[in-house]
Amino acid sequence: MATAEQLKALIRSHNSGDDEHFRAIAMQIAAVQARKGNARIAQELRDLLDQAHRRQSPVGSPRAVPIARPAGELAGLVSASYPNTRLADMVLSDATRTQLEAVVQQHRQRDLLHSHGLRPKRKLLLVGPPGCGKTMSASAIAGECGLPLLFVQLHGLITKYMGETAAKLHLIFDAMTQTGGVYLFDEFDAIGAERGARNDVGEMRRVLNSFLQFLERDDSEGIIIAATNFVGMLDKALFRRFDDIIRYDLPTGRMIRSLTENRLAAFDLTGIAWQSITLAARHLSQAEVTRACEDAARQAVLSGTHTITAENLKQSLVARHHQVKRRATKE
Ligand SMILES: Nc1ncnc2c1ncn2[C@@H]1O[C@H](COP(=O)(O)OP(=O)(O)OP(=O)(O)O)[C@@H](O)[C@H]1O
Ligand SMILES: [Mg+2]
Repeated sequence: MATAEQLKALIRSHNSGDDEHFRAIAMQIAAVQARKGNARIAQELRDLLDQAHRRQSPVGSPRAVPIARPAGELAGLVSASYPNTRLADMVLSDATRTQLEAVVQQHRQRDLLHSHGLRPKRKLLLVGPPGCGKTMSASAIAGECGLPLLFVQLHGLITKYMGETAAKLHLIFDAMTQTGGVYLFDEFDAIGAERGARNDVGEMRRVLNSFLQFLERDDSEGIIIAATNFVGMLDKALFRRFDDIIRYDLPTGRMIRSLTENRLAAFDLTGIAWQSITLAARHLSQAEVTRACEDAARQAVLSGTHTITAENLKQSLVARHHQVKRRATKE
């Protein structure tokens, strides 16, 4: 029988529409059965997978959704995608998960809220260190709500259009009234830094003031998400313009274990002593832990095994610590 972890991984990859991953996990289950001497079951599994593969169109199976394609001037400012990400794919603290689930729930039931003169929460500020899942959360909200994710890279916008950023922001907020979606203003600190904290105050203040005005006036259906690393630098006036502030932090020991089990669900982890792993992963972000797991997975696959040893995983985590340090000294 497949283990509970393998079944969970199978269902997760099915939910997220990731056929490649689904197939890889199912093949692993077949391989385990073959190794255990259950040749007939292994063959049946492979036959079923072959049948499913043949049924798919030769060009893959794109999701049948209309892409909201930003046109004209907007095309250079915003990029659109339809993420398959789900909140269940994420490892979150209970508080953060509750907040994100409420946003999704309220969006789904917005008609009911409207009928009582209420509006869903839809202006969100995501705050936390790099690699803790802010951008991924925006994808997951879009995925859960079946909305396009419209990605606004603020840093690029400001440097590219110095002097006319406010006008460009206007264009984007205008688009929100026409195209529903999750609008992600990533690297929000680019304009959110405290007014007066910079030398080029003039331009930054104008941009931030117009953003705040647009945000306040906006009554579209769109979900607006601003994400930032620097909570300390953010302007106090900003906080009250958002319906909710959602905080992220580095993972706890329990979260490190869940991240590892999720990412390595297709592998055998029975030999892992979790305490030493969570200790080795301390101070790493969710993104770094995930990458360390992928490093360990690659090593296992290339050594022809599907067992992850505690030693390999620990080495990958230590290597990540070194990389993070090297990056920090370069910056
Ligand atoms: N909470 C999480 N649960 C599961 N995976 C995560 C989580 N956070 C991060 N990851 C993994 O790390 C990757 C990068 O995370 P993400 O880009 O969302 O971080 P971020 O908080 O937006 O970082 P930054 O501040 O640098 O923009 C994700 O695509 C995912 O693979
Ligand atoms: Mg991000």
